[in-house]
Amino acid sequence: MGTLNLIHNTPLIFLDKISAGLPGKIYAKAEHLLPGGSIKDRAAYQIILDAYQNGNLIKGQTVVEMTSGNMGAGLALVCKQFGNPFIAVMSEGNSLARRKILNAFGAEIIITKQVDGSPGMVTGADIAYAADLAKDMAQNRNAFYVDQFNNPSSIKAHFHHTGPEIVKNLPEIDGFIASVGSGGTFIGVSKYLKSVNSNIQCMVVEPQNAAILKTGKVKDPRHVIQGTAYGLIPPHWDETLVDDFITVTDQEVLEMTRKLSEEQGLYVGYSAGANVLAAQKYLMAQDRALNIVTILCDSGYKYDDAILV
Ligand SMILES: Cc1ncc(COP(=O)(O)O)c(C=O)c1O
Repeated sequence: MGTLNLIHNTPLIFLDKISAGLPGKIYAKAEHLLPGGSIKDRAAYQIILDAYQNGNLIKGQTVVEMTSGNMGAGLALVCKQFGNPFIAVMSEGNSLARRKILNAFGAEIIITKQVDGSPGMVTGADIAYAADLAKDMAQNRNAFYVDQFNNPSSIKAHFHHTGPEIVKNLPEIDGFIASVGSGGTFIGVSKYLKSVNSNIQCMVVEPQNAAILKTGKVKDPRHVIQGTAYGLIPPHWDETLVDDFITVTDQEVLEMTRKLSEEQGLYVGYSAGANVLAAQKYLMAQDRALNIVTILCDSGYKYDDAILV
């Protein structure tokens, strides 16, 4: 078995401590256990596979992408297995831990300045700045530009793998909750779930002050949920898949992320904390026992210690 075989079939964990006292159960898919430490390994693998199949990428050709760190780690390890050099263009606002991981996976790293964010809080403008630079670099070097926000392979990865894995593990699923970065996870999984059973409810999690998908507005682009809620509507966004929106504050997310490690033994990042918190909020408003599935998007090891304590 090679490294790439590790990219699918993560366990679906019953969060017994978090679910205690709630009407219903929260299950979480342990994507933080993937080899690159996040759910983005799935998108990275599918994107490179499809690029080879479509003739957009050949062996030895350089791959370039703008990344908050997780897609970069996935691409770095996948590209290495396929024999392609990888360049990650990343905002300086992302954690140092992510830079170290990219470095360890053998990526070339280009750091870009922040436009209006701050360390640990990367905004849509920061991302757009890094993406422009990545695009130029890809053109200049005749490289393959991944373009994760516009690349449909990410949705495909979740439609063909993450979604079916969830249903296989928990056929009695009632609802699914996820935060949105490129939207690949939410769109791909929700599309699959609704194709199996249109009654499955699919909910989006957003920071209270950057709930653009719910409200169309961003009051403050800065929040702790790195990798998500960039204050933009993802190009492939499909609002017909959304049954409800749940908003969360930074303080609540910090508390739940801490609780997940301290009580549930799961050392995961803030989007995982936001997802589980949203599942808890959703269940608290229900009057019958439901099975809710969410995602543990990445590992707590991806974050600088100062943030998680
Ligand atoms: C930590 C984290 N959580 C959630 C997401 C959202 O995933 P998606 O891009 O599939 O919406 C990302 C995306 O990079 C991420 O890095």
